[in-house]
Amino acid sequence: MKILVTGATGHVGRAVVGRLASLGHDVVAMVRDRQTAAARLPSEIALRVADYENASALKRVFAGIDEVVLISSDGDASTVMHHHANAIEAAAAAGARHIIFTSIVDVDDQSPFYFAPVYRDAERRLAACGVPSTILRCSLYCEFILDHWLVRSQSSGELVLPTGNGRVAPISRDDVAAAIAAVAANLEKSPKIHTVTGDLALDFGEIAASYGEAVARQVGYRPCSIDEYQALASAQLDDPWPRAFSTLCASIAEGRYSRVSDDFAVLTGRGPENFRDFLRRATSATEA
Ligand SMILES: NC(=O)c1ccc[n+]([C@@H]2O[C@H](COP(=O)([O-])OP(=O)(O)OC[C@H]3O[C@@H](n4cnc5c(N)ncnc54)[C@H](OP(=O)(O)O)[C@@H]3O)[C@@H](O)[C@H]2O)c1
Repeated sequence: MKILVTGATGHVGRAVVGRLASLGHDVVAMVRDRQTAAARLPSEIALRVADYENASALKRVFAGIDEVVLISSDGDASTVMHHHANAIEAAAAAGARHIIFTSIVDVDDQSPFYFAPVYRDAERRLAACGVPSTILRCSLYCEFILDHWLVRSQSSGELVLPTGNGRVAPISRDDVAAAIAAVAANLEKSPKIHTVTGDLALDFGEIAASYGEAVARQVGYRPCSIDEYQALASAQLDDPWPRAFSTLCASIAEGRYSRVSDDFAVLTGRGPENFRDFLRRATSATEA
């Protein structure tokens, strides 16, 4: 069984490659650039080079692969949609036997989230492509919340987001990788959708307080309007991120990220890392 992992120089992809290789699987890393790969992956990992933009290169690198682990792409919505479409089509054309895809929790057609249509589209393509697939609908990454929202709140002591009373059950990137590796190592014969979340749905008051605890500083949460957040985000971020993040907050405020699933424990045989433990680990690593 040859398993190819895309996005293999990224945080999640690299962790999946490492886990599968240490379990003795025949794993191939798909990368865009060999030099980046040399700096981020062990030298014994087999590499194949392709960009999601290049449909024929994708078909070439997927040749002879049994299982494709498709780590979702990033960028503006239409580019990402096109990347996923290219990869799914190429995997089917190359004769892959199974595709694993990292989707998101909220793919509902009423969702306000900028990326919801992108992931809905990929999931539809997977269902129609003729190759059995496993979809992992992942919650927000702990690292996303920390890097994009919490770190910025440290100096003011105030986490300002349009998330209302919404809750989220964050999961670390390493745990997402553990769930993917568990699926890849025990191939599911029929199409499946797993929801991969943390063990607790926290509101943003609790998230801010946990961060404050980890950095030994008082941090509180102030819910704001979408317009206020958009204005703040637009001063710091390029398009499409102010729109992407504000609509994500709207989705959270509507309760679309509040579900806690035990799929992670079922897949891996253990609980996910708790968000408070993650924060302690991540902030002490930053300070060290
Ligand atoms: N749930 C969440 O909270 C959340 C938050 C952020 C992102 N995400 C999604 O989760 C994915 C994985 O997260 P991550 O932290 O591992 O991301 P990451 O560290 O940024 O890694 C992204 C990977 O995708 C590769 N890539 C980007 N554009 C590509 C292209 N055009 N063709 C081929 N490969 C390409 C990158 O290659 P290079 O090293 O060559 O750039 C890298 O290996 C992201 O891509 C995004 O879709 C989810």
